Amino acid sequence: MALTTELGRQLQLREVEGILLQAATVDNWSEIQNFEAKPDDLLICTYPKSGTTWIQEIVDMIEQNGDVEKCQRAIIQHRHPFIEWAQPSQTSGVEKANIMPSPRILRTHLPTQLLPPSFWENNCKFLYVARNAKDCMVSYYHFQRMNQMLPDPGTWEEYFETFINGKVAWGSWYDHVKGWWEIKDRYQILFLFYEDIKRDPKHEIQKVMQFMGKNLGETVLDKIVQETSFEKMKENPMTNRSTVPKSILDQSISPFMRKGTVGDWKNHFTVAQNERFDEIYRQKMEGTSINFCMEL
Ligand code: A3P
Repeated sequence: MALTTELGRQLQLREVEGILLQAATVDNWSEIQNFEAKPDDLLICTYPKSGTTWIQEIVDMIEQNGDVEKCQRAIIQHRHPFIEWAQPSQTSGVEKANIMPSPRILRTHLPTQLLPPSFWENNCKFLYVARNAKDCMVSYYHFQRMNQMLPDPGTWEEYFETFINGKVAWGSWYDHVKGWWEIKDRYQILFLFYEDIKRDPKHEIQKVMQFMGKNLGETVLDKIVQETSFEKMKENPMTNRSTVPKSILDQSISPFMRKGTVGDWKNHFTVAQNERFDEIYRQKMEGTSINFCMEL
């Protein structure tokens, strides 16, 4: 799918097994598929706009025992290699991961069926964060408006169709979330929900800590809750993407740390769109035991 927009974006998403991905990722596909995971790797997995940056900062704060200075060592995009990341003349995510000392914390947006097989073969730990589909759609819409590396989303009405048909980078929200949910008891997967982290951050951070095999005291946990709040991360240049050039992320269109709330979809969906969405959601998610509260 080649797309040229009035903003001058010349973009291409290409399919791998029916999933749209950035063209450079597809060009690099054999390197990605041959990636050699190690048994002590922890992979952060999300559908785009589900709180990836948030969980990365939480994981890093836990890993660094709550030491804020250590978490300031690099921008968040550079701390955990993004395994499918590829851009011409840039170090790829795989190359970055290959030179990283173990134990490694990595991240991906790939659906289960496209993950490099070595992750399963090595029984790695996976930390999956899911966010309700409506808020994900809203967040992704604003992200595509400001991210010059992704296709222009068009109008909200147009994007509504694009999203429900899974014609966005990394494919269908429904298939992604279902795919990871269905295998969660077969592998070492901690499955979290954005809405739970928002409601009770300390409780969810504790779960992550235990999953990582760490044991931090109450004071450190409280500090992690504070330091990973939306307000703190919005002000933090190591997490708010302010170091990324405007030619890539134009934060004057929409900030990367946009709202960080649950239920912003109510400010975007019309009543008719909501009814249609609920019906499609019911069809697509039929048969799964996953239970998102959509009336948030
Ligand atoms: P909104 O666009 O709804 O504000 P990702 O990191 O996967 O791209 O997800 C980005 C979304 O997570 C954005 O959602 C962003 O504001 C939100 N987010 C990032 N840090 C957060 C935090 N500390 N608390 C709550 N939401 C956060």
